[in-house]
Amino acid sequence: MTRTELPDPETDSTTSVEQAIATRVSRRSFARTPVTTADVSQVLWATQGVTHERDGIEMRAAPSAGATYPIVAFLEVAPDGSERLEAGLYRYEPTGHALEVSLETTVHDDLTRAALSQEVVRDAPATIVLAADYDRTRTQYPDHGDRYVHMEAGHAAENVHLVCESRNLNTCPVGAFSDADVADVLDLPGRLDPLYLLPFGHRRTEN
Ligand SMILES: Cc1cc2nc3c(=O)[nH]c(=O)nc-3n(C[C@H](O)[C@H](O)[C@H](O)COP(=O)(O)O)c2cc1C
Repeated sequence: MTRTELPDPETDSTTSVEQAIATRVSRRSFARTPVTTADVSQVLWATQGVTHERDGIEMRAAPSAGATYPIVAFLEVAPDGSERLEAGLYRYEPTGHALEVSLETTVHDDLTRAALSQEVVRDAPATIVLAADYDRTRTQYPDHGDRYVHMEAGHAAENVHLVCESRNLNTCPVGAFSDADVADVLDLPGRLDPLYLLPFGHRRTEN
C-alpha cells in the first residue's frame, strides 16, 4: 500500500478559538485552487490526529468514549484538487500522521451523486469522509455505544470546521447522502459505516 507522510501539524495559530467560533458559518463554494499538503495535514490532524500518549495509548485530537476511537477518516481528492495528491481516496492513519491509498482512481462524480448531487460536494477540491466502526465502542458500551459514536463524529467534524475557519478554508458539514451509495463508491470495508462528509477548499468571498 502506498503511504504518504504528511507534514507535521501546526499547534499554534494567529486566529483564536473564540475568533473561529465567532466567524464560523457553513461555506458551500470554493476557489478553483488545489488544497495544499499543509491544509490536508491540518484538517486530518483535527479529525483524529495523535496529540499525546497516555498509558501507552496514542490519544487523539477529538475525545472518545473510553478511548475506543471508532472514527476512521478518509480523504477524497477530486481531479486537480490537491497540489501533491492524485485524485482518488486515501485513508488517514493517525499513527505516523500519514495517508494510505485506498482507491487510485477518481470517485468524485460518484461521491457527488451519492451525496444527492449536492454542489458543495461537486465543487470541493477535497472531502473528508468520517466513517465509524461501531463495534469498537459497542463492545465496551452496549447500551450507549451508538450514541457515543455519533457524538464523536460531531467532535471531529467541529474540530475540522474550526481549523478550516482558522486557515481561511471553506467547509460545510454534509449529512444528507445515501449511506449505501457512499459505502459502495468508496468500497468501505463492511465494518465501517459512513457518517459525515466534510468538503473543504480555499475560500471564496461569496458563499
Ligand atoms: C448533522 C448536519 C448535517 C448537515 N447536512 C448538510 C447537508 O447535507 N448539506 C448542506 O448543505 N448543509 C448541511 N448541514 C449544514 C447546515 O445546513 C448548517 O449548519 C445550518 O444551516 C446552520 O448554518 P451555519 O452552519 O452556517 O451556522 C448540516 C449540518 C449538520 C449539523
